[in-house]
Amino acid sequence: MSMDFTRRDFLKASAAGIAAASVLGSVPSFAEDKSPDFEGKKKFAGIGSCRKVADDIIYVGVSDRRIQLFENVYPVPRGVSYNSYVILDDKTVLVDTVDRSVTGQFFENVTAALGGRNLDYLIVNHMEPDHSSAISEVLVRYPGAKVVCTSAAATILNQFFACDISGRSVIVGEGDTLNTGRHTFAFVMAPMVHWPEVMMTYDTVSGALFSADAFGSFGALNGNLFADEVDFPRDWLPDARRYYCNIVGKYGKQVQAVLAKAGTVDIKILCPTHGPVWRENLGWILDKYSHWSSYTPEAKAVMIVYGSVYGGTESAANAVAAEISRSGVADVAVYDVSKTHVSELIAEAFRCSHIVLASITYNMGIFTPMKNFLLDLEAHNLQDRCFAIIENGSWSPVSGKLMREIVDRLAGCVVVGKTVTVKSSPSEKDSAALAELAGAVSASVKGSAESPEAAAAPAPVKKWVCTVCGYVYEGEKVPDDYKCPLCGAGPSFFKEA
Ligand code: FEO
Repeated sequence: MSMDFTRRDFLKASAAGIAAASVLGSVPSFAEDKSPDFEGKKKFAGIGSCRKVADDIIYVGVSDRRIQLFENVYPVPRGVSYNSYVILDDKTVLVDTVDRSVTGQFFENVTAALGGRNLDYLIVNHMEPDHSSAISEVLVRYPGAKVVCTSAAATILNQFFACDISGRSVIVGEGDTLNTGRHTFAFVMAPMVHWPEVMMTYDTVSGALFSADAFGSFGALNGNLFADEVDFPRDWLPDARRYYCNIVGKYGKQVQAVLAKAGTVDIKILCPTHGPVWRENLGWILDKYSHWSSYTPEAKAVMIVYGSVYGGTESAANAVAAEISRSGVADVAVYDVSKTHVSELIAEAFRCSHIVLASITYNMGIFTPMKNFLLDLEAHNLQDRCFAIIENGSWSPVSGKLMREIVDRLAGCVVVGKTVTVKSSPSEKDSAALAELAGAVSASVKGSAESPEAAAAPAPVKKWVCTVCGYVYEGEKVPDDYKCPLCGAGPSFFKEA
């Protein structure tokens, strides 16, 4: 082991799964083997678990049911699959690879699919490591394979895995093609769906679109590879939506651009890098993508998200929910922002047309989980929704104003009704205000003529915060003779909020 083999080098090589053998010197390095049939190529004794996608297109992906957090962020209680495909043409092709956690099963699958043949091409549609972690090992196992990718992908490949593919790369751009015998693959650039180097690969013969992350879903595959083999709307749609909105949701424009390109070719099979493959009813999932990427709500529906410590704000949220439901709006759901993973809230916000926010004031700001949710909504570029706001604060409620500031930054979003201010717990007077707010939301959902978006937007009220104790005075100006009712500080201690 050379002394200049740094820890960074080790980590990069480990990612490819080859470091331990070559560093310890106890087993031959893969690099010494010139044939894919070298002794010891199996990481574990096992068999492949492939499925045919079409005559000569074979699924070689792997499901991970041990993973807890996808991207170390998103809970995946149903696991996740990393999809990869082999095409057995005159030349053989592998489309994308898998995450480092499942390379053992992956190479069993690839070996089984190739049936003793060598690999000629590895097409890299996306360089995120959940699809690229096995590339280095593929290149070692199949030294004759060429890598087909964008120039950006080549750069990122080298950054992640110290993997220099110059000399064995085919760099492609929009409209370039690759003929492998019977098949001709056309490359479609898809930048920011979901990284800048992304492309999709369209097989002009089978009509299969290898779509990278697009049309993917959280969830491990359970032998059922195709979306028509499961009850997708019932069992998969929530995870497909959560996957799209959280992973790709920010890039609606870019997804729309790819959908426009997709409309110009005859797609018969959608082969994403996660979740089921689509070979029937493609219009259904394309329509979902059309909604999500254009930030069009899927339903006239209300989500009520509350952040509550002692129950007062929760009580207000429940009252509004009951009133909206009483008015005849069926699709209403209430979420505790502290108990619901933010990825679920983001997905539900993409689904619903209306969002009611109810938050306590916390450290003179928005309750932390609610602030996190709203900033995440902003980060995911949510647009064109109707919001309503309830704030709570026992002595200086400011969360309503602060939540509105974030909502106002969301393109095409409006606030309906008057912000309701609760002090500690909802009073009888608050009850009437909450009913009025619920009425405004209902009218907006139903699209009635009385819909108050334009009419009832509250006139901005100036708020002045006592810099000694945090009390908030509302009014155009703090009067000269004013004394803070909490701490007695005079007007010079008040700053505009
Ligand atoms: Fe599934 Fe963007 O990687």
